[in-house]
Amino acid sequence: METVLSGIRPTGNLHLGNYFGALRNFVKMQHDYNCFFFIADWHSLTTHPNPENLHGNIKTVLAEYLAAGIDPDISTIYIQSDIPEIPELYLLLSMNAYVGELERTTTFKDKVRKQPDNVNAGLLTYPVLQAADIIIHKAHHVPVGKDQEQHVEMARKFARRFNNMYKAEIFPEPKPFNFGNDLIKIPGLDGSGKMGKSEGNAINLADEPEAIRKKVMRAVTDAGPTEKNSKKPEAVENLYALLKVVSTPDTVSYFEDKYNSCEVRYGDLKKQLAEDIIKYTSPIREKILEYTADNNFLGKVARQGAEKARASASKTLKEVREVIGFRSF
Ligand code: TRP
Repeated sequence: METVLSGIRPTGNLHLGNYFGALRNFVKMQHDYNCFFFIADWHSLTTHPNPENLHGNIKTVLAEYLAAGIDPDISTIYIQSDIPEIPELYLLLSMNAYVGELERTTTFKDKVRKQPDNVNAGLLTYPVLQAADIIIHKAHHVPVGKDQEQHVEMARKFARRFNNMYKAEIFPEPKPFNFGNDLIKIPGLDGSGKMGKSEGNAINLADEPEAIRKKVMRAVTDAGPTEKNSKKPEAVENLYALLKVVSTPDTVSYFEDKYNSCEVRYGDLKKQLAEDIIKYTSPIREKILEYTADNNFLGKVARQGAEKARASASKTLKEVREVIGFRSF
C-alpha cells in the first residue's frame, strides 16, 4: 500500500475551504493508502512563535481533524514535535541542501518581504524540515495546494540527492498528490477568490449557527441581473459555488432558474445557503465540542499517533545512519 503524508501548521480553526479542499478527501483516502496526518508545530515557529496559544491551536486542529472523520485507528495522526527523529533527519539533510537553492525558494522570498525584521534561519531551512517530514516515512504522495508544490519538488530533490550521494535507494521520490475531479475550490464570502483564514472571509467548521448566518448574510453580491441568462459576476458565482457544495440539486436549480429569469432575491438565497451550511457543519461542530472537552481522549490519540509515527521514523533513520557511516562499536 502506498504512503500518503499531509501536514498542517496549527494556526487556528479549520474552515470550509480546508474541509472541502482536502479534509473530506483525506477521510475517504484513509482506506486506500497508508496515511500520515500531522500537525507541523515546529514549522509554525518560523512565523508565529506564540507560547500563549501554541498548545490551544494544536488541540484545535487535532480535535477538528478527528471530528471531520480522520480515524486514529486507521491512519497515523500525530504532532510533529513528538517525533525527535524528524530533527535528526533535518540536520542530516541540511548537510546537502545548498544555501543558494534555499534562498531562491518562493516562500522564503515572500517571507523576507513580509517579515523583514525576522528573517530567521528556520525560514531559510523550512523546506529542509518539510522534506524530513515527508521522507522520514518514505511517503509516495503529498496532497498539497499550488503554493506548496515547490516544497514537494525540493523534497524530491533532497531525497534524490541523498540516494545518489550514498549510492543507496533509501527514499522514494515523493509526488504532489492531486485530487483531480474531487478537488473543489471553496471561494470566499467577500467576492474574492479563495476562502482562507488570513483573508478573513472564512466560515469555520466550529462556527455556531448564528455566526454562520451572520457571515453569509454579509456576503458580497450585486444589484442583481437585468438581462435574462446573463453571466454571473464573481461574487455571485461564489455564492452559487458554495450552494452547489452544501445544498441539494433541486435547491441549486431553483436558484439558477431564478437567476436566469432575473427574479433572484439574494436574501432568500443567502438564508437557504446559511441553513444548508449549518446542516452540513452541525454534526462536525458537535463532535468538535465533544473532543475539545475530552483532554484524556486527545492525549491518548496523540500518544498513539506518536508511537506509530516514531516506529516508522526510527526504522528509516536506522538505515540513514547506517549508509552515512555511523556505526556502533
Ligand atoms: N508547509 C506546509 C503548509 O504551510 C505545512 C507542512 C509542513 C507540510 N510539513 C509538511 C505539508 C509536510 C505537507 C508535508 O501548508
